This record gives sequence, C-alpha cells and structure tokens, in this order.
Amino acid sequence: MGTLLRGGTVVTASDTVHADVLVEDEVVTTIARHIPPSDHTVVDVSGCYLFPGGIDPHTHLDMPFGGTVTIDDFESGTRAAAFGGTTSMIDFALHTKGDTLKNAIDTWHDKASGKAAIDYGFHVMVGDMNASVMAEIPDVVEKEGVTSFKVFMAYKNNLQADDETLFRTLRLAAEVGALVQVHAENGDVIDVLVKEALEKGLTAPKYHALTRPPEAEGEATARAIRLAEIAGAPLYVVHVTCAEAANAISDARKRGLPIYGETCPQYLVCDVTDYERPGFEGAKYVMSPPLRDKWNQDVLWNKLKNMELQAFGSDHCSFHLKGQKELGIHDFSKIPNGSPTIEHRMNILYHYGVHEGRIGLNKFVALTSTNIAKLFGLFPKKGTIAVGSDADIVVWDPSVKHTISAATHHMRADNNIFEDMTVYGKPKYVFLRGHKIVDHDSYIGAVGQGQFLRCGRFYPVQF
Ligand code: URP
Ligand code: ZN
Ligand code: ZN
Repeated sequence: MGTLLRGGTVVTASDTVHADVLVEDEVVTTIARHIPPSDHTVVDVSGCYLFPGGIDPHTHLDMPFGGTVTIDDFESGTRAAAFGGTTSMIDFALHTKGDTLKNAIDTWHDKASGKAAIDYGFHVMVGDMNASVMAEIPDVVEKEGVTSFKVFMAYKNNLQADDETLFRTLRLAAEVGALVQVHAENGDVIDVLVKEALEKGLTAPKYHALTRPPEAEGEATARAIRLAEIAGAPLYVVHVTCAEAANAISDARKRGLPIYGETCPQYLVCDVTDYERPGFEGAKYVMSPPLRDKWNQDVLWNKLKNMELQAFGSDHCSFHLKGQKELGIHDFSKIPNGSPTIEHRMNILYHYGVHEGRIGLNKFVALTSTNIAKLFGLFPKKGTIAVGSDADIVVWDPSVKHTISAATHHMRADNNIFEDMTVYGKPKYVFLRGHKIVDHDSYIGAVGQGQFLRCGRFYPVQF
C-alpha cells in the first residue's frame, strides 16, 4: 500500500504534466495519467502543482558568527524550511583556525543528528585554509561525503584567504572532484573603507553597505574566476548581488568555463534603501555582500531567467534584532551579518518570479531544486520527481494568498526582512521521502526525521 497523489500537475525542470504520482517505500514508483486507487492512501491534490522538494544550498544553522550564534538550530531551522517547501539543505560546517576539517564536520553532525526535520548535507566553510587543511580535502571528499568548500575573499584578519591559498585550493579541488565556493568581496579594500568610516564617526547600519561597494564584489568575482581558469577548476560563486559580479560570471560562461553562480531572495526584493529605515531597523538587513541599488534586481532576474545564475539559496543566517544585531548598535561593523530567509526562499521566487511572470514554472524548479542537486552530487535521488527518486514532493497551492510576518513565521528570529510582503502560493502538503511532514499550517513530521546526505563528486553540468 502506497500514497497516491491524485489530480495534480507535476512540474520538473523540463516538463509540466497532469499526472498522478504513486509513492511506495519512500520513493516515487509510478507517474501516470491515471493510477487506480487500489488500496493506496489517496491524497487529492487537484488544483495544485507538485514540485520536487526544494533544496537550499546555503544555510547557517547553529553557527558561531559575528560574536554570537545564529538563532535557528537544526530543529527550528529545518522545521521552518519544511513549512516553506524545502526538504533538503546543505549547511555550512564552520571550520576555525587550528581545527581539522574532519572535526568541523563531526561537530556539525552532532548539531544536526536527531534534530533535523529535513534531509541535510554539508559544505565546509573554511576558516583557515593552510597546507595541512588542504591535505585533508581528498579524504574528506572520499570518506565524509562532503565535496564543496567555501573560501573567503573577505573578512580580513579573520576568515579571508589570500590568492595563493585560493589558487592552490582550486587546483587541488579540480584533481579530487570537489567544488570550491567563494565569498567574493575584496576584503582588503573593505577593511580600509570600514576603518575610514569609523574614524569619521559613521556608525549607522547604512555604512555597512557604503563600505562594501559592488565594485569590490565584481573585482573579487572576476579575480576568483581567473584563478579558477588558470587552475582548470570549476567554481561556484555564492550570494551574487550585483551586475558587476553577475556579468563577470556570464562572461566566463560565454568563454565556456564551468563557473556557476547563486543568488538569494533578499537581493531580488530588498535594496539599499532598507538600511535607511528608522532607528536601528536597518540592522535587520545587514548581510554580506550587502543589499544593492534597486536596478540590480532586474539584472539578477534576467540572469536567473537565462540560467546565467543557476542556483537559488537562502543564505539563512538568522539573528534576533534584540540582543544580537544590537551588538553593533554603536558600530555597524559589529552587527552580526545575516538574516532569516530559509522559510520564504521558495515563496519569494514563486511569487515575484512565477506569479508575476518573470520566470516560468520549470525554471522555478530548476533554480530551487534540480540544478542544486546536480551541482552538489545529489541528483537524481534528489531534485526531481521521477520513478526511483526520493518522494520529496511539495504540493503547492498557487491560489493561496498570505502575508509574511515575523509574528507568524516558524523561524526563531524576532524579525523578518520580507515583513508585510503579500505573496501568492504556499505548500499545502510537504512530503519528505513519502512521509507527510507539513499539512497546511501544521508540522506533522518528527524531530530527527531528516537524514544525512552524502554529496557526490562534482561533475561539470551544462545548464
Ligand atoms: O551575511 C551573511 N551572508 N552571513 C552569512 C555568512 C556568509 O558570508 O555567507
Ligand atoms: Zn558568504
Ligand atoms: Zn552564507
């Protein structure tokens, strides 16, 4: 006896078809125009889209950062993700100076196991890339199922790696089938601008953006791409915010290079004027790279539409305004960077993208799920609705209209950067490997139901 999802419209990255879907033993076993009910549990999904469960490639749960710890742990963060239609995520295990990659990964297993509501894998966010850490990479790829490594070009005297280190990492990654991810901002330039601003007594949240200009992101992105080109390596640029960076990625792709880019909901619907909000409210929007002039949003939408950016991540890095963001009340450089976005990643792309006609349904699925599964070695177990794939299915009701608010969201943060946005579309049911975990506004899964996902080696994907 299985679960029969009856009467919906199945949407994958390539097709949109009216079909019934049968789920047995956690996987999809039949997709057909009409499947007889037999002794299956029948779920009426008419009027709804069936999307493959969302895969969030960029989250920071329970992570020490900016003098505090992100407020969502694996229990609250993954449950909130499920409410938004995300059934898998790849979280950044934080490696710090003096630590091994293996220990960072073990620490993240301890944080996640027994708590996660959805399936999860890890990247490593490398805090100090040195010879001994680099020497660990082949083993980590082979034995740990962790195949992507984030290197920082910003956060000087803290996480920032120099060009030699980045280049050596890229070359090694190419040899062992790993994917290097870069946080591309010129940290040296930013360091000068931040010091100068503080010397002048410019301490308000808006100076976070003014000291991290788009040119610093564009320069670092272009430099990382050139280093990857020399190394013969693929590269994944996280959280792309602006024309300067996005165009550098497009140019490289036109030259046939395996360069991939990710953007995030906040860069599509929030902008630099949010830092001007009264009082200290602008601090909610302090993230790196920062929000940009509004015209960049059209650039990013076009890049998504043409698949010149291929992945859509939340960069969920949540802090309370009270007590956490307030660490920087007298100094913008001390405001913990990041915002709570895991729950509304799919909502924002669906409403402003599909509902408002900027992108089609298949592209929505590609950007929120399929492309990510392919880039991080999870496809076709994850990222599609196909016979044999995990039955991670979001039954999405496009007719539901709702208003996003911190008062009703499921994330722990006391703020929501999408506050008051009224959007169409919402999950009616969410299935994780065939188990219904969300039913309308109720979470009906079990704490710890999420399983660890071993990511596969990188192979060049054509989009
Ligand atoms: O501001 C951000 N993005 N915080 C999370 C850490 C990072 O750089 O991704
Ligand atoms: Zn980053
Ligand atoms: Zn991040």
